[in-house]
Amino acid sequence: MTTTSAVPSGLPDAAAYAQAVRDARSAAAAYYDGGTSALDDDAYDRLVRAITAYETERPEQVLPDSPSGKVAGGAVEGDVPHTVPMLSLDNVFSGEEFTTWAASLERRIGREVAQWNVQPKLDGLAIAARYQDGRLTRLVTRGDGTAGEDVSHAIGTVEGLPDRLTEPVTIEVRGEVLMTTAQFEYANAVRTEHGGDPFANPRNAAAGTLRAKDRAYTVPMTFFGYGVLPLPGTAPDLAAELPELAHGALLDRAAAWGVNTPASTQVPGVVVTTVAAVVERVEEIAALRADLPFGIDGIVVKADLAADQVAAGSGSRAPRWAVAFKLPAVEKITKLLDVEWNVGRTGIIAPRAVLEPVEIDGSTVTYATLHNPADITRRGLLIGDQVMVYKAGDIIPRIEAPVAHLRTGDEREIVFPTECPQCGSGIDTSEQRWRCERGRNCHVVASITYAAGRDQLDIEGLGHTRVVQLVEAGLVGSLPDLFDRLTRDQLLSLERMGETSTDNLMAALAAAKAQPLSRVLCALGVRATGRSMSRRIARYFATMDGIRAADAEAMQRVDGIGAEKAPVIVAELAELAEQIDRLAAAGLSMTEPGATPPAAEDAPDDPDAPQADGGPLAGLKVVVTGAMTGPLAKLSRNQMNELIERAGGKSSGSVSKNTSLVVAGEGAGSKRAKAESLGVRLAGPDEFAEMVADFLD
Ligand code: IVH
Repeated sequence: MTTTSAVPSGLPDAAAYAQAVRDARSAAAAYYDGGTSALDDDAYDRLVRAITAYETERPEQVLPDSPSGKVAGGAVEGDVPHTVPMLSLDNVFSGEEFTTWAASLERRIGREVAQWNVQPKLDGLAIAARYQDGRLTRLVTRGDGTAGEDVSHAIGTVEGLPDRLTEPVTIEVRGEVLMTTAQFEYANAVRTEHGGDPFANPRNAAAGTLRAKDRAYTVPMTFFGYGVLPLPGTAPDLAAELPELAHGALLDRAAAWGVNTPASTQVPGVVVTTVAAVVERVEEIAALRADLPFGIDGIVVKADLAADQVAAGSGSRAPRWAVAFKLPAVEKITKLLDVEWNVGRTGIIAPRAVLEPVEIDGSTVTYATLHNPADITRRGLLIGDQVMVYKAGDIIPRIEAPVAHLRTGDEREIVFPTECPQCGSGIDTSEQRWRCERGRNCHVVASITYAAGRDQLDIEGLGHTRVVQLVEAGLVGSLPDLFDRLTRDQLLSLERMGETSTDNLMAALAAAKAQPLSRVLCALGVRATGRSMSRRIARYFATMDGIRAADAEAMQRVDGIGAEKAPVIVAELAELAEQIDRLAAAGLSMTEPGATPPAAEDAPDDPDAPQADGGPLAGLKVVVTGAMTGPLAKLSRNQMNELIERAGGKSSGSVSKNTSLVVAGEGAGSKRAKAESLGVRLAGPDEFAEMVADFLD
């Protein structure tokens, strides 16, 4: 059973209600204190909803400790009074709920809200930063909203909150302190090195780090401002001006003073004029969530104009002019049941976490990546741990850290393999990623199945089961065996291989010989290369001889190959020499159609220069997303990328400001949204098919 499913949806009686209040209070205290709650956010939200539902029906039974209607669930106190209360936000969970909320706000102020400000809801902790004559003098947590805790010792460790502003103003900046994903990884590495338990997630890490005094080490955090207020010492004209400014203008002012705001991110605050446009922007930000280098748990929508805010006013817990549009939780706590060690086709031994199944962001998560053994050690994981699992969009789920205080003492060390789990040979542990000493010869079934796959040699009829059969019968021990050793009679001698399937497979093997060099190279499974890198190498050198003649320096002329990868690739090719010779002798293609070898060997490759052979996409970096239709309907993503490169362009998997064109088909999500937000040109499948018509097979 997962921790989250322990949360009741309806509370049957007063005892259950009282227990729920106690649970919520201790969870809220842990949440705001930097400890780790046994409940993840989703479970906490459901608990508070159950409490509120119970109280609505039996208002006479409301306990004084109830978290409902209180800032920070009433769990924290402080001793530094806030000049103006630091409030929380009400939540909505859907476009409809937002529309209803907006209508009630407009009824309250008696007019339409002319400008909405839509910005990310940063998943950290609220903080007030006081500046006196431009110098940062005090940091105060939100506390119970009326008074907070002094955490000024953290001054100097929070990026985005400069010690000195660009002007000597006296003001209070309010915003969120958080850890970016990179800061979190760093914080946990340092903390475990010092013998501490890792923090469960970035939010916890920020809370714990902010409140910790006298630590032997410092770890950086990041601030994003979302409000500016005058203080008692503020110059009268500025004090009069600030409350008049629209929210967007106020944040621009903060940014000009040197304070970090969401404007510096991929999801800057935007001002829109209609409820429909708000919902559209919410969807855009939601689609970008998985790509952001920091956590967001929703989107905050605010009436932008000061006059609208004043007219709406505030309640005791939250303002009436702003609301949080919550996004589904992407983090859940579940149990680490086991760690599996799987050997890949190049002999890499990769650990994978087996989890108690947990539903996150619309899908059931059972496995999570654990990169390499060092990663496990760094995270301090134990089998049986409750772990915080993160999954957003289509990214591979990952374990953030164990929730160390939930340990029962029954957890076990994770046992690292001492011999290859596939073949029993020794393990090369000299690099971060462990590898079977037999390398690519260890897991021949995996490497041949990969080579025969659709995006490599595309050998129909040679799936995993058939490869197992061939290898177990001793007929095939390496890729070239398929082409220069395996005979028709041998195939016929196998079980479930009749005349027809044998002839079909022989024909498929013959057809594979015509595949371009890029696919032959990819089929070889050279470490540090995949499909797109194989294409780039093949297009650059044009022939296998050219590739094999390249030293590490020449290899680096291929776009995307740096000083680290180049020697690995060169060494791999040397290791594969015999296989390559045999494939060439068996008649596999060793040239890349349409590519010309580099003219002068030492001419550096200019990645921005158009391809020598031109083409309609010359010089363009193209990303494909969503389902292709029309003339492109049958093309796999790999074939689309091949098409782009034949037409002179560069294919890429991710959208950035350097992307020239995004081909977006049906169901395109985050990449389309990102292209829109960056102003990158978009084309539909039909329009794109016309552009590259001459290059379609
Ligand atoms: S506005 C009076 N803007 O979310 C207005 N809050 O769940 C209150 N938060 O207490 C804050 N990102 O700690 C605002 N862009 C943003 C925010 C944001 C995160 C936090 C803030 C607030 C909490 C409410």
